[in-house]
Amino acid sequence: MPARSTSLDSFAFVLFGGTGDLAMRKILPALYAAHRDGLLAPQGRIVAVAQNPHDQAGYLRWVNESVRAHVKVVPGDEAAWQGFIERLTYVELDASQPDVFSRLSDVLERMPGGRIFYLATGPSLFVPICRALAQIGLVTPSSRVVLEKPLGYDFASSAAINDAVGSIFTEEQIYRIDHYLGKEAVQNLFALRFGNVMFEPLWRREWIDNIQITVSEELGVGGRGAFYDQTGALRDMIQNHLLQLLAIVAMEPPQSMEADAVRNEKLRVLCALKPLSEDALHRCVVRGQYRAGAIRGTAVPGYQDEPGIRPDSTTETFIALKAEVDNWRWAGVPFFLRTGKRLAERMAEIVVTFRPVPHSALGPAALRLGANRLTIRLQPDETIRLHTLAKQPGLGMTLQGVHLDLAFDRFFQQDRMEAYQRLLLDVIAGRLALFVRRDEQEAAWRWVAPILDVKTAPKPYAAGTWGPPPASALLARAGVCWVEEES
Ligand code: BG6
Repeated sequence: MPARSTSLDSFAFVLFGGTGDLAMRKILPALYAAHRDGLLAPQGRIVAVAQNPHDQAGYLRWVNESVRAHVKVVPGDEAAWQGFIERLTYVELDASQPDVFSRLSDVLERMPGGRIFYLATGPSLFVPICRALAQIGLVTPSSRVVLEKPLGYDFASSAAINDAVGSIFTEEQIYRIDHYLGKEAVQNLFALRFGNVMFEPLWRREWIDNIQITVSEELGVGGRGAFYDQTGALRDMIQNHLLQLLAIVAMEPPQSMEADAVRNEKLRVLCALKPLSEDALHRCVVRGQYRAGAIRGTAVPGYQDEPGIRPDSTTETFIALKAEVDNWRWAGVPFFLRTGKRLAERMAEIVVTFRPVPHSALGPAALRLGANRLTIRLQPDETIRLHTLAKQPGLGMTLQGVHLDLAFDRFFQQDRMEAYQRLLLDVIAGRLALFVRRDEQEAAWRWVAPILDVKTAPKPYAAGTWGPPPASALLARAGVCWVEEES
């Protein structure tokens, strides 16, 4: 039987892509933080696998120089950092060559416990690695495999990977990571919706006018140009992070927080997304690409001048779209999704706009001043803000917009757990609820498929703005605007 919910007290965490950017910036720092906080079983070992010709000492030097820059090692943490370093073993190996995997099995033979294979490599290596692991007998019922995104390039390539990996590991052994699901604020979304009674009766088409989900970034493509140019914002962000957020916002209350109870409800939403017709593709999807501009006063180049980008590239760095969930709860409510690089501000936010009061006994101002709005900000700060109307002090009934604020970072003093730390601890503990099941992932690929086929050039926008003007027109047609456009 696969170790579905068994926590591994001793384990070997095998990190393919052990010298890569993700290992350096996210995975190793997250494992260090778990170690420092006493959350990692003392018998846990980390085996970094990569092609770079390091010996063990050379790898540890690289970790000391590169990874340490991404973790907070304060003076009192020195012993913890040393203890973490002692957990690490480096194995130099070309993961595309099955005949060299004996080097890995020699090392793992000396390590007790379950094996976690974390594939922080390009998706083209997922299948060869899993096959090589199986061939050499390293896959056992207690093994787990973690797949980083992007999992494939479209529905067919993702299904091919899922078929091949699924012939080696059971679905319960496969952890498809979407780091947005590990964010504290996303957890809070579950708490807000399912831990409180007051929003649930209003959480439906009768009371909600529209929902906006924005994940905007100030960063450009940086050193990932060659990868990003093959990917674009739709594959990089919408197919996974934003559709997962939409699913959590729109799902029915699950029976429990058990993995499949949650994933079944998310799946129902993803399957209920209204397919995009030819006409909707033109009216409801806006693709953009940044040109030179300025971010916080500093000039930045346009996308096509970034390293690794084809000069005539038509890859989108921005996308805004209108989605609809065709079910009784949501029919007719537009969900506006928007994400992009080199935008005006880094933030992630879900804005639920309620319908205006049906009749204003307090005069026209109650209608004019706008409806109630719930803003759930995921980053950079984590807040929930409820916009309401109040009476100004004094004679007469003059209404004014006010808000009730809940700032989690002020309310809860303790440090936030990074998304990767939470998710890696979940893998070790055998908790699958925050990982994407195959059917969810494939439903998302199916829904975005027609947008992938759009061949028209993306609309230009200047870096440091909120994207191309048609993104505003998209909402204007529905009689609304993006929140930052409100006067
Ligand atoms: C990753 C994307 O999945 O998410 C990146 O590949 C993007 O392009 C990143 O920058 C955004 O994550 P976060 O946590 O910084 O919002």
